[in-house]
Amino acid sequence: MSHSAARPEPAERAKVPAHVAIIMDGNGRWAKQRGLPRLEGHRRGVETVRTVTNAARELGVSMLTLYAFSVENWNRPKAEVGGLMSLLEFYLKQELKTFVKDRVRLRTIGRIDELPAGVQKHLRHTIAETAHFTDYTLVLALNYGSRTEVVDAARAYAAAVAAGKEKLNDGSWATFNRYLSSADLPDPDLIIRTSGETRLSNFLLLQGAYAELVFTPVLWPDFTKADLAAACAEYARRERRYGLTSEQVKPAATAAK
Ligand code: FPP
Repeated sequence: MSHSAARPEPAERAKVPAHVAIIMDGNGRWAKQRGLPRLEGHRRGVETVRTVTNAARELGVSMLTLYAFSVENWNRPKAEVGGLMSLLEFYLKQELKTFVKDRVRLRTIGRIDELPAGVQKHLRHTIAETAHFTDYTLVLALNYGSRTEVVDAARAYAAAVAAGKEKLNDGSWATFNRYLSSADLPDPDLIIRTSGETRLSNFLLLQGAYAELVFTPVLWPDFTKADLAAACAEYARRERRYGLTSEQVKPAATAAK
């Protein structure tokens, strides 16, 4: 019996990154190249968010994390910050129907309680309405930065130790991980950054410890399903060793040849 193209063989499926995280960069340059205001670049960036959310699901990815607003982004011109928050609120309002139709669970990481009240309201509503979906999760990193996340986690962990809920001597990565805003989410397998920049900019620094990194020159508003598929293909060619040797991580059948 033939299998449909939408359902890859198990061996192929194993090579699809379960969790892809993206640093969406280049909206400003995209706009500048066209003589448009920066916000127009962000508006087009939201269209790409829609395209890529669908594309990732179609490619067999089960979790997509998007770096939508960093803790450092507050320092941008006031009008740009306000514009980004309005876009985010509008996107959340518009997208709920699609999330429900496509069975997308929405989650966030970052200091959500510092976002404008309107954004928080729509986030809370959308998260509650989609919480029961299990196949595919979209995680928005909002007011997110790894260093802030670690400081928050360290504070919460210290408070738990002081309250006698954790024992300092039992401390391990597994324990500390429970205090990060991504506590119940799997680590990213693949981190992509668009626009030709080759840095992580305070994004998932701990969770991405073993992630494969792919950098593409494509500006975020121009990023397509084909670009995502190309990044996933690059991921499939990599050998993830987690500190072991190549021989140790090769499947037994291949190693015996
Ligand atoms: C980086 O481009 C992008 C951002 C700082 C914001 C990303 C936001 C969006 C794609 C839109 C809002 C998101 C959602 C989920 C609705 P840049 O402005 O730094 O580009 P540049 O480096 O070319 O100036």
